[in-house]
Amino acid sequence: MDTGLNGKTVVVIGAARGIGRAVADAFLDEGCDVIAADADPSVLKQSRQRVTGKVIDVTNLQQVELLASESGDVSHVVFTVAVGSGHYGFPFWNVPPVEWARVLEVNLMGAVHVAHAFAPLLASRGDGSLLFYVSVAGQIGSQTDPPYSASKAALINFTQCAGKDLASSGVRVNAIAPGMVKTDLNQAVWESSRGGAPDQQGQTYEQWAAEKIRRVSPLGRWQELDEIAATTVFLASDAARNITGQTINIDGGQVMHS
Ligand SMILES: NC(=O)c1ccc[n+]([C@@H]2O[C@H](COP(=O)([O-])OP(=O)(O)OC[C@H]3O[C@@H](n4cnc5c(N)ncnc54)[C@H](O)[C@@H]3O)[C@@H](O)[C@H]2O)c1
Repeated sequence: MDTGLNGKTVVVIGAARGIGRAVADAFLDEGCDVIAADADPSVLKQSRQRVTGKVIDVTNLQQVELLASESGDVSHVVFTVAVGSGHYGFPFWNVPPVEWARVLEVNLMGAVHVAHAFAPLLASRGDGSLLFYVSVAGQIGSQTDPPYSASKAALINFTQCAGKDLASSGVRVNAIAPGMVKTDLNQAVWESSRGGAPDQQGQTYEQWAAEKIRRVSPLGRWQELDEIAATTVFLASDAARNITGQTINIDGGQVMHS
């Protein structure tokens, strides 16, 4: 399939590791120029051609605006940044209200900053896309980490608002909701569960994940980084030119929309 992405500039924010890094690699494979941004300075060490690392904190609007102003003729922006509260949030009063602020600041306000900084650039081009990473947690009232779930639910809603606002400019806005992907963030959920869930004491990460996948996933397996990255490329490609305002689940059937 010709994705129409060859030679396009793509900004991936959250690209130092995990899903963001796999997404950046997938766009490089398509012949894109990639700007890989992250708060982690390891993003500056890139071994491939056509990728430029940038260190930014998405909670800082000025830094995000500077990134946008230095990104040239950008066609697609992918936001994969997220943090959890670090608490096991079941019941919700296990997470002190003060802990909500940081999660919402990074996961929601970071995405809002990115939308504010990049939407005018994309709109002036008259095409391209914004893509936000959300989560099944934002669709099912997941009790594991309520601030994280709420931040993702809000971002799903903002994806629809921004999709409507930008449609007349020819810019599409979509979201991807993964289920279970083996990354640092996923392992952090297990670590915080160990502190709070009596039935999970003594389980290794692999045991915890296998049990959870068996319980929640009809297809019964992890979602792999290459599967997630391939759908991200598809949503940016010409083949997805009639898709906007959508949240696409890559979750083995964990959440099924009617
Ligand atoms: N891994 C999963 O199972 C899973 C499931 C559902 C949704 N997701 C979503 O997928 C996306 C990627 O998750 P992941 O598992 O790759 O996470 P990860 O923790 O491996 O990567 C997140 C990246 O965001 C960066 N980051 C954190 N705070 C930042 C800030 N303030 N400014 C800039 N960068 C910052 C980190 O340095 C890191 O490189 C997230 O939005 C997450 O919510 C992941």
